[in-house]
Order: sequence, then C-alpha cells, then structure tokens
Amino acid sequence: MKIIMLGAPGAGKGTQAKRIADRFEIPHISTGDIFRENIKNETQLGLKAKGYMDQGLLVPDELVLELIMDRFKAPDCKKGYVLDGFPRTIPQAKALDDALNKNNDRIEFAINVDVADEVIIKRMAGRRACLNCGRTYHVDTLKPKVSGQCDYCNTELVLRDDDKPETVKKRLQVYHEQTQPLIDYYNNKGILHSVDGTGEIDDIYKQIINVLMT
Ligand code: AP5
Ligand code: MG
Repeated sequence: MKIIMLGAPGAGKGTQAKRIADRFEIPHISTGDIFRENIKNETQLGLKAKGYMDQGLLVPDELVLELIMDRFKAPDCKKGYVLDGFPRTIPQAKALDDALNKNNDRIEFAINVDVADEVIIKRMAGRRACLNCGRTYHVDTLKPKVSGQCDYCNTELVLRDDDKPETVKKRLQVYHEQTQPLIDYYNNKGILHSVDGTGEIDDIYKQIINVLMT
C-alpha cells in the first residue's frame, strides 16, 4: 500500500502516519525526520537543509528528491510506505509520479488532514518531539508516560527549532503557497480523501482506517 499524508505543518501527519505504518507494517517515511536526523549527525545534507528549515522555508526540490529516491531503494519499501511531508511541491509530486510510472506503479491514497491555521499555531507551541525516532507528543493532548521522555526509545523530548511562533507562521505561509496546490493535484487523480484533523487523535485515525480499508 502506498499512501501520502497531506496537511499543514502541525496538522497531525506524523502522529497519524506512525499509526498507519504500524497497522499495515509498512515504513513511515518523513522527509522532515530524515533531515532532522542528518542535522543531528552533522552530515553535509543536514548542514544544507538546516538553513532553510530554521527559516521555515522548504529545502530545494533537488536535495529532497535525491534523498527520497535513495530511500525508496531500501528493501522495506517493497511492501509500500506512508509518505509524510513528501511530496510538498508540484515538481516533487510529478517526480514521484514519474518514478512510480516507470514501474507501472502508483500512489493509492492521498490523505489530507485538514486543520485551520489558528488551531495549528496553538498546537505547535505545546509539541515536544523525539529527534531519535520522530514520535511527537503534546504537553496537554498527548503526554508521554514519563515527563520529557519518549515512550518508545526513552530519548529526551525537545521543542523543535522550527516550532517558534514566528517560524510556524512562515511555515504556514509557505504551506499555503507551495503545498496546498497538491490537494487539487491529487483530487484530479481521484485519490484524495480529506479528514477533519481537529477531533481526538483516535477518532481521526479511525476515519483514516475507514478510507484505507474501503
Ligand atoms: P516536517 O517535519 O515535515 O514538518 P511539517 O510538515 O511542518 O509538519 P510537522 O512535523 O510540523 O507536523 P505534523 O503534521 O507531522 O504534526 P504532528 O503529528 O507532529 O518538515 C520540517 C521542515 O523540513 C520543512 O519546514 C522543510 O523545511 C523541510 N522539508 C521536509 N520535507 C520537505 C520536502 N518534501 N520538501 C522541501 N522541504 C522539506 O502533530 C503536531 C502536534 O499536534 C503534536 O504535538 C501532536 O501531538 C499534536 N496533535 C496531533 N494530532 C492532534 C489532535 N488531533 N488533537 C490535538 N493535538 C494533536
Ligand atoms: Mg511531522
């Protein structure tokens, strides 16, 4: 199964993608997580990406495409994947289609997690992230079992550098300009499914599973 998660920064793409990946035993591929891992390890790619990410801007398409095409070669992608944060521009979506078409393959579902900007700005300030496994928590709505520590890998949770309110506003602007057009792109292909992302995390997950199972 090949799935794309669409939605604004902080809509809950990562939260839901992790669950979907566990449920269908497919990898969760988050380009944001891969960049953060590279930043942590101070790789060349990480150094290049950090400047853009800290300003709330998108990393250039060439860098993203190189990274993701390489990731698709890994054996775990044979069963499918849930993509989170990729594609994020029309050129990225076209490049993904071209790569899949070569193998007579295609994306089956594009799930749009729909959340208004005002809700997002409130959510982001309370988000805490595990930079080791990519899981996210929230100080009010999704607390870890032990305060400040990831439930899965015990790593210390942090406020992401790009979650400062001014940067979140910039990310939202960039989202509306460059990523939102993908909603029409996948709607025109007949694979877009929008879910309201403002309810309980479990209810949103159930709605997504309903879409994927029908
Ligand atoms: P990326 O890491 O993808 O960030 P993003 O898209 O801005 O999305 P987030 O991870 O911030 O939000 P999310 O939707 O995953 O929400 P979450 O589940 O954590 O990208 C970061 C940067 O990398 C980009 O800005 C860009 O620079 C670069 N980049 C990455 N991919 C790129 C690409 N393809 N091209 C170019 N550049 C790229 O949830 C948010 C919070 O809300 C959490 O605290 C969570 O616990 C909470 N929450 C979730 N659901 C609910 C709910 N229903 N109710 C209450 N709280 C909830
Ligand atoms: Mg995320």
